[in-house]
Amino acid sequence: MLEKIALSQSYRLLNHGPTTLITSSHNGKRNIMAAAWACALDFDPPKVTVVIDKNTYTRELIEASGTFAINLPCVAQIDLVQQLGSSSGRDLPDTDKFTVHKLTTFDAQQIAVPLLEGCVAWLECKIIPEPHNQNTYDLFIAEVVSAYADKRVFSNGRWHFEGDDQETLDKLRTIHHVAGGAFFATGQAIQAGQPD
Ligand SMILES: Cc1cc2nc3c(=O)[nH]c(=O)nc-3n(C[C@H](O)[C@H](O)[C@H](O)COP(=O)(O)O)c2cc1C
Repeated sequence: MLEKIALSQSYRLLNHGPTTLITSSHNGKRNIMAAAWACALDFDPPKVTVVIDKNTYTRELIEASGTFAINLPCVAQIDLVQQLGSSSGRDLPDTDKFTVHKLTTFDAQQIAVPLLEGCVAWLECKIIPEPHNQNTYDLFIAEVVSAYADKRVFSNGRWHFEGDDQETLDKLRTIHHVAGGAFFATGQAIQAGQPD
């Protein structure tokens, strides 16, 4: 079900503005938090921006390791996303959010970071240090070094959430956070005509 995505097309995983889960790991510690402010920045080599607040435990781990992964959760996971974005791994000294929420992960290929099962796409990222942006705006720039998607909903460079088993596909739609736990699910695909 997992398909490797050409790096030059990895921006397509983020271009529609989904809310993400950021996974991180350093020195035997691992963590996961919600992040709505993740955005494509460049095509090739692909780069992304993410805003990671100074108070988060994620910030500590990604600054120490220089890496993180962007996981794209789906409708089936919205309660989990809200919980992972409303609690800190720092408050769990003897355990972590993965254990508390009974999450299943698999290993990233290029970096030492867990990826969350049940998500529909994953981008492995290496931070390009920009201390001014990081300190002033909590803004991280990173290069995408590997990307994958669940081919039930992303293949041939396109998201496709409509098909035979609509009930399943509706649960696999990516999500968009507004505020206070209110989300939109990614909607109907529409295609613009080609310019003359
Ligand atoms: C839907 C949602 C989106 C969020 N987006 C961001 C974001 O883009 N950047 C950020 O720094 N925090 C964001 N947060 C808040 C963090 O997820 C939150 O501070 C979390 O508790 C940090 O966890 P940690 O300390 O374990 O890293 C978001 C929270 C939610 C619920």
